[in-house]
Amino acid sequence: MAKAPKVLILNGPNLNMLGTRQPEVYGTATLDDIDAACRARAEELGLEVECRQSNGEGELVGWIQQARGAADGIIMNPGAYTHTSVAILDALLAADLPLIEVHLSNIHKREDFRHHSFVSKAAQGVICGFGARGYLMALEAMAATLVESQEA
Ligand code: DQA
Repeated sequence: MAKAPKVLILNGPNLNMLGTRQPEVYGTATLDDIDAACRARAEELGLEVECRQSNGEGELVGWIQQARGAADGIIMNPGAYTHTSVAILDALLAADLPLIEVHLSNIHKREDFRHHSFVSKAAQGVICGFGARGYLMALEAMAATLVESQEA
């Protein structure tokens, strides 16, 4: 049987605080809950996943660099770095892997400074506003993308 495609799920700053962080905006699921749900859905979809979170921009850049050649796709919620980080955008462009950007909240419904995403420039697509379910939607989209690219 062919090896399961590997998807790296990256979460940026403050997402380790999910569950207690502004639950009215981000919901009550913890990051551990989200990671566990992703692992279960990934198994059903025939994907291997690795879930990581960091509050540090440099650490996230390092992990994205390492993903080139080691992973088949990236799902990322860059947190506030979405709106500020050219370094993360550049790392994602260099990684040259299918990327799906995820946000729990609908960033377009919120403050103006959240409306722009540097990261979207590297993304195949963006899922926002569906809470924790957005990560599972991203996994489904990633599975379809990876199957299509295998068939191409
Ligand atoms: C977020 C939205 C960002 O604007 C914010 O800084 C976050 C979380 C989301 O998942 O909705 O930390 O990425």
